[in-house]
Amino acid sequence: MSEIVSATKKKKICLSCIQPTGVITLGNYLGAVKNWAEMQDDYNCIFAVADLHAITVRQEPAALRKNTREMVAILLACGIDPERSLLFIQSHVPAHSQLAWVLNCYTQFGELSRMTQFKDKSARYADNINAGLFTYPALMAADILLYQADVVPVGADQKQHLEITRDIANRMNGLYPNLFTVPEPFIPKKAARVMSLQNPDKKMSKSDPNPKGCIAILDTEDQIIKKFKSAVTDSEAQVVYREGKDGINNLMSIYSAFSGKDYAEIEKEFEGKGYGDFKLAVGQTVADALKPIREEYDRLMKDPAHLDEICKNGAETASRFAYRTLNKVYKKVGFLPYGGK
Ligand code: TRP
Repeated sequence: MSEIVSATKKKKICLSCIQPTGVITLGNYLGAVKNWAEMQDDYNCIFAVADLHAITVRQEPAALRKNTREMVAILLACGIDPERSLLFIQSHVPAHSQLAWVLNCYTQFGELSRMTQFKDKSARYADNINAGLFTYPALMAADILLYQADVVPVGADQKQHLEITRDIANRMNGLYPNLFTVPEPFIPKKAARVMSLQNPDKKMSKSDPNPKGCIAILDTEDQIIKKFKSAVTDSEAQVVYREGKDGINNLMSIYSAFSGKDYAEIEKEFEGKGYGDFKLAVGQTVADALKPIREEYDRLMKDPAHLDEICKNGAETASRFAYRTLNKVYKKVGFLPYGGK
């Protein structure tokens, strides 16, 4: 891992985290994790499984443990390489909670009240509007600022949280110069926004009322092809990308993401062909692309001790970085150093 330490000076630091929510969808894969894997060439990447964030909504403890380990296996199977990147579990690096407390004291009630995710989630989980749900952005800011991250790949739903992270960083830098790197959002050039196969005006989600609308990245070839065969299209029978053709547009963007073909090439390929052929081709392409991921995942899950070892190594290296920043923060805010030094 020392190469990460020495390379830090050359490459920019990219950080992102994912909550252990069970299996990820094709939407999460194309919108986030696939890009993370590709960013490893150009950035020093840091990825964590955000289990501390997960308990802002009630979790079944055994399920949380299981989902956390599975998420590590999924990230590895999707190509996150622990030899090149840092991969760890958020709760294994206590500095995240420690910095979050400090940042809480530099974050205003008013600005947290404006977070749309807090408003949405407190409506959805009205019987558990806990303080953690409210201060969630301060913990997320801690995740990012601890590693002096330059760029943070985030989806639209997390942009506001990155904005508040920047506000907190700038505020603290105003009080204590040069404390934090102010992170930039990173919007990948080809981040596909994947819609439900059954309701193409809604984002693909594993809570889709119709399970056929959502592809999980661990679905089998059969399941994937069946779901694509029953995807909602339109009555025009023309594979062209155009406003109003939400179903076809969605399938074209998925096909494009995996095949590398642009829309014009896809239109040409399917000229004069019916939707049946097109849906089958998309389904087969997705199934072929996800197969190695599923196989690697199955292989990794057979050896949980190996997964735990990867997490342990990741947390150890992450701690070294994180405590460097935390110590600096503790000193600046005026905490008397432990042991007097
Ligand atoms: N809140 C993010 C989500 O739910 C996960 C997350 C936690 C995160 N900490 C982060 C993302 C830091 C980017 C950077 O998707």
